[in-house]
Amino acid sequence: MERTTRLARGRLPALDRSTVHAFEDGTPGPIYYQRIAHPVGLEAERLLGELEGGDALLFPSGAGATTALVLAMLEPGATVAVADGGYWGTVALLRGELGRWGVEGVGFDQTSPPPPADLVWLEPCSNPMLSFPDLDAAIAAAHAGGARVVVDNTVLSPVLLRPLEHGADFVLHSASKILAGHHDTLLGVVGCARPADASRLAAFRTATGIVAAPDPAWLLLRGLKTLALRVERQSSSALELARRLATHPAVERVRYPGLDDAVARRYVDAFGPLLSFDVADGERAARVELALALVENATSLGGVASSLEARARWEGERVPPGLLRLSVGLEDVEDLWTDLAQALESAR
Ligand SMILES: Cc1ncc(COP(=O)(O)O)c(C=O)c1O
Repeated sequence: MERTTRLARGRLPALDRSTVHAFEDGTPGPIYYQRIAHPVGLEAERLLGELEGGDALLFPSGAGATTALVLAMLEPGATVAVADGGYWGTVALLRGELGRWGVEGVGFDQTSPPPPADLVWLEPCSNPMLSFPDLDAAIAAAHAGGARVVVDNTVLSPVLLRPLEHGADFVLHSASKILAGHHDTLLGVVGCARPADASRLAAFRTATGIVAAPDPAWLLLRGLKTLALRVERQSSSALELARRLATHPAVERVRYPGLDDAVARRYVDAFGPLLSFDVADGERAARVELALALVENATSLGGVASSLEARARWEGERVPPGLLRLSVGLEDVEDLWTDLAQALESAR
């Protein structure tokens, strides 16, 4: 059965918010207290596990999933090699809060082999620099050096890429983005290749209480019903806009692997909703932000409504000052282009 059919069919489960479920004949069943498991969460994990091809666990945010994965799977003092140009919050978390517990976060260019580490953190279509690793080679090199590998698959989603099939040990998502898809839900996911790792992570989650509630899990399930169609439409619109932006006189560079990345093309045939493009400087980037009428000037990505922001406001010198990150939504592509083109006039 095709994935769109599998996702669309069937009813959503009832939104059961009970924190407590009665024992059966004096014995706790699989669901008895919400911190351990709840019906909506289990259904979301079943579906996500099927999509990624592993055992999936839900967390209250992508950052919560990252925290749990690192603390549950690594020992104090471990080294994590994180892709340069990927989500800045991951690096900040590793070097900041987790750094206080002895974790060392080192950056590397994910288009080259990873350095020695305990955990290698890849991000295909990295956010916001849109670099793409040679996944099979990077995973093989990390394993040869004794590291385990996590792939942050937030931008592409399992519709386009299933990292566990390429040998990754873990796949991670901010499900707040394209999986839930409507910018009304904060959630994270870790998919594990090995059941033993999933059990360890579940035990950590129960003990620490880093647990997703039923309401966001239910919204995620509803969002997943349209995931395949959204990804398809957002990817085709993003490619079209990337092509047009590449010819615009105010645009110095477009970053979208769908345009020219031969390595990315070996792994995926569509490239998701996220692209970045550079105008000459930060001042012009700010003018473009303010001139937009349809595209929202907002952070985050993967929603049904398009959004754009200058990333230097958060990431400083980590990104070029004129870099604008665009998340392409479901609007008509001609409407989006009309808005971007008129806004770019202010950057000439
Ligand atoms: C690629 C990526 N990973 C992880 C995260 C963190 O997710 P959350 O905001 O759900 O905590 C984000 C958030 O922007 C992200 O873009």
